[in-house]
Amino acid sequence: MIEVTPSGEACGATVTGVDLSSELDATTVAMLREAWLQHHVLAFPGQALSDQRLERVVDYFGVFGSEPFFGTIEGSDHVVALTRKADEKAPLFAENWHSDWSFLPQPPIGTCLYSMVIPPVGGDTGFINQQKALQEMPPQLRTQLEGQIALHSARTAYAPDGMYGKNDRAAGRSMAIRFSEDAREVCGHPFIDKHPESGRDTLLGCIGYIIGIKGMPDEEALSLLLELYEWQTREEFQYTHRWEENMFIIWDNRSVLHRAYGGYDGYDRILHRVTVAADPGKYQ
Ligand code: SIN
Repeated sequence: MIEVTPSGEACGATVTGVDLSSELDATTVAMLREAWLQHHVLAFPGQALSDQRLERVVDYFGVFGSEPFFGTIEGSDHVVALTRKADEKAPLFAENWHSDWSFLPQPPIGTCLYSMVIPPVGGDTGFINQQKALQEMPPQLRTQLEGQIALHSARTAYAPDGMYGKNDRAAGRSMAIRFSEDAREVCGHPFIDKHPESGRDTLLGCIGYIIGIKGMPDEEALSLLLELYEWQTREEFQYTHRWEENMFIIWDNRSVLHRAYGGYDGYDRILHRVTVAADPGKYQ
């Protein structure tokens, strides 16, 4: 029997009674999708997934997303290895809050991670429920964001002079990051929008990939972005996911921010990742 157990934090639930290595019927998929929209992050412990099965799970939620600045693993056009070696000296990957690839015209609707090697300490993944943050936002802050367009870009991260650019490669990172001049492109998205499936108001992104606000002087925009960041990252909106090996998770990239935590120097950590794009025939 399928059981969905909420984390007790601001989002997240654990799902048991589903074997993702076998084919799922339409009723099960619909139920999982409902749970995903409700809890934003679903964790499935004790799964034995090959990379092919990991790719198959994407079909249940949408179609493959693109990975503009990552190389994929050998034998797959979609699976990316998030790796960190025990003795790695490069700064931790994805330590800042973000929504995956929010600078794309159509960011992924979801991201899946499957844990292969998990350190005995640290290495959690943090999530923040952006629907809850918006629902409880002080009206004076919300009023300043309503109708405004956030300008998103990957430039501070993936341009050659960005955080994961030339200097980072020289630091010997084990992950296959492909920095590029394309990272300088800028794409606008409303700060506040209706979630295309649940219809709930949601906030997309935060300072980092958001580099400015359309039509607003930089200084004013920075001050508003920092005020927003302080609110949207509050403790009470967070869920900290603790990993076990062979655990699959999927999050709704339209309604949460996430980040990686360190604290596992001296241990390897390996997860495989695929992103989910909207299936234009079904969902957005
Ligand atoms: C990510 O942002 O996809 C990385 C999350 C993690 O490594 O925990």
